[in-house]
Amino acid sequence: MELELAGKIVFISGSSRGIGLATATGFLKEGAEVILNGRDRESLLDIQKSFSAKYPGRIMIASGDATTENGISEILSQIRSFTSKIDIFVANLGSGKPQSSDKLDVEEWKRFYDINVLSNISLLKGLYPLLECGQSPNVIFISSIVAKEKMSAPYGYAAAKSAVLTLTKNLAKDWADKGIRVNCVLPGNVFFKGGRWEELKEQDPEGVDKYIREQVPMGRFGAPEEIADAIMFLCSARAGFITGASLVVDGGQLSIF
Ligand SMILES: NC(=O)c1ccc[n+]([C@@H]2O[C@H](COP(=O)([O-])OP(=O)(O)OC[C@H]3O[C@@H](n4cnc5c(N)ncnc54)[C@H](OP(=O)(O)O)[C@@H]3O)[C@@H](O)[C@H]2O)c1
Repeated sequence: MELELAGKIVFISGSSRGIGLATATGFLKEGAEVILNGRDRESLLDIQKSFSAKYPGRIMIASGDATTENGISEILSQIRSFTSKIDIFVANLGSGKPQSSDKLDVEEWKRFYDINVLSNISLLKGLYPLLECGQSPNVIFISSIVAKEKMSAPYGYAAAKSAVLTLTKNLAKDWADKGIRVNCVLPGNVFFKGGRWEELKEQDPEGVDKYIREQVPMGRFGAPEEIADAIMFLCSARAGFITGASLVVDGGQLSIF
């Protein structure tokens, strides 16, 4: 299947590891140019260096903390210094890691909303003029299956990821006549080195294995590359009539339709 992603300029928030990094790698393989983001500039420079021979001149870095006003300005000004258009924005930044065991802790809810929703909205707002100049522009939000069904995730995280679904639908309808497609991917449990599931597995290997065996019909974790493939399909020319969609990639875990 020809995805027609070569030459596209792609910005991915939170892309120094996990789903974001796998998505960046996938786009690079397809011939796109990628702008990476994260707070730790050194780790982004290491990635750029390790990929530079394979994808010369196609990896850029816009480092900064997307949960702060200053960080957003820094990220946007770096992006504007490389390009006057963006074809694809993957709003991947998010986190479900709790800092409080109280699921009704208001500060915790605010923190989840900041990192999962407001960071990506602020970036989107700043990137909008660049997206308008893009070719068949696409926005992809990364939600989670916890947005759709009660699971053991923190309430604030689940609610923030539900907000992402609402946002996807609203933007898709309002921007369809501008030619901007907006879709959402809902990953299930995705394992990678340095990720949240590795941390949980170190704390309770048997409990995590049991959870995956019993809750995921396919009986395994997803790989970041499997989420990246769904993201790239939705941004591609092969998904030209798809907007406002929520694509679940979870090994069959969700029970609802
Ligand atoms: N992993 C899963 O099982 C799973 C399941 C469902 C949904 N998701 C969703 O998928 C998305 C990616 O998650 P992931 O697990 O692959 O990655 P992750 O481990 O959460 O990776 C976080 C990435 O974001 C960057 N980051 C963190 N805080 C930041 C900030 N304030 N500003 C800018 N960058 C920041 C990190 O780099 P620095 O540390 O250098 O900043 C890193 O590159 C998230 O939206 C998550 O909610 C994940």
